[in-house]
Amino acid sequence: MIEYSLRLKNLPPYLFAEIDRLKQKLKKEKEEFIDLSIGDPDIPAPRVMIDVLYESAKIKENQKYALDKGKLSLRRAIKKWMKLRFGVNLDEEKEILPLIGSKEGLVHFPLAFVNKGDYIIIPSPGYPGYKGAAITCETKIFELPLREENNFLPDLEEIPKSIRNKAKIIYLNYPNNPTTVLASQEFLKKLVKFCSKYRIIIAYDNAYSEIYFEKKPSSLLEIKEAKEITLEFHSFSKTFCMTGFRIGWCCGNKDLVTGLLKIKTNIDSGIFSAIQDAATYALEKGKKYVINLRKIIKKRKEVFCEGLKELGFSKFWAESTFYVWIKLPQKFKSSIDFCKYLLKKRIVATPGIGFGKFGEGFVRFALTVKENILRKAIFILKG
Ligand code: MLT
Repeated sequence: MIEYSLRLKNLPPYLFAEIDRLKQKLKKEKEEFIDLSIGDPDIPAPRVMIDVLYESAKIKENQKYALDKGKLSLRRAIKKWMKLRFGVNLDEEKEILPLIGSKEGLVHFPLAFVNKGDYIIIPSPGYPGYKGAAITCETKIFELPLREENNFLPDLEEIPKSIRNKAKIIYLNYPNNPTTVLASQEFLKKLVKFCSKYRIIIAYDNAYSEIYFEKKPSSLLEIKEAKEITLEFHSFSKTFCMTGFRIGWCCGNKDLVTGLLKIKTNIDSGIFSAIQDAATYALEKGKKYVINLRKIIKKRKEVFCEGLKELGFSKFWAESTFYVWIKLPQKFKSSIDFCKYLLKKRIVATPGIGFGKFGEGFVRFALTVKENILRKAIFILKG
């Protein structure tokens, strides 16, 4: 018997890998089900971008290691996009770093900045990768509640004074997964002021910045002085439906970029150059694609939320992202209980508890299936 490390023993199974196991089991049993669990879009990535990928993959030079900090052409495209989209100025040499997906960067990031026993603050509910990162780095964890009564924004005053000085990193994510809410500029300013005072690094996960419907989400780097303490993470996965490609980037403070780069060059050997070229193309030419994507998701949200109302659900949130976050009907004791009930009806959703203890009492639906399937799900739930 081989002994696992304490670190590994403390690491919970990855939420979406667990759900995937369940789905594989259903598939093996030839059971049909409606999958509203993981945020993995059903819409294909931009067609022309695939051609770019194919052409680029044929070039011999692109088949070699893509060591160091990503292609200059990609970093320049990111710089231009950040300027156009948010008005944020970045130095493509020092302040931008392509990643093998934002998850990879978010999880490796603390390795460069925390020591055993430091605190990492994670939002609860929150993306499960943050907790995994803290456990892997053997830090202490403070779960900062995102409460319904505060529209799922954290109250920073809830961080005990004794922890503020020991906290090295805070993870936050708006547009928020799983609750869908956006952060106001007022909150972002407060956050920067608070973290500057206590010298807490902000790992700002902005993976859903383009999946909005009315209000346009901000970059934290728009806030004055944020760049002193922030590394912001972006993803191609959600914006261009490229989850399987594994590409994203981070940008912000140059020392934070340098630290993560040193970790990464010791761990991975870069992003396949053809994928970098495809991503560059998506950033430069993908505007119409994203506008259309938003239209599709908006329509799906209308259909699903209308159905939820007909079913008698009174509290749910669908402000951004492709998720809908619902408060459990009172007759269900827990989010797992509700998901089991859904599973009996062959609908797979994600229990709120999977996002942390303050996610209990809620369930998340990912609208990553076509409208007619969403209608079918509502029909099944009515029955
Ligand atoms: C989600 O469904 O919340 C995530 O995007 C899935 C993941 O990245 O593991």
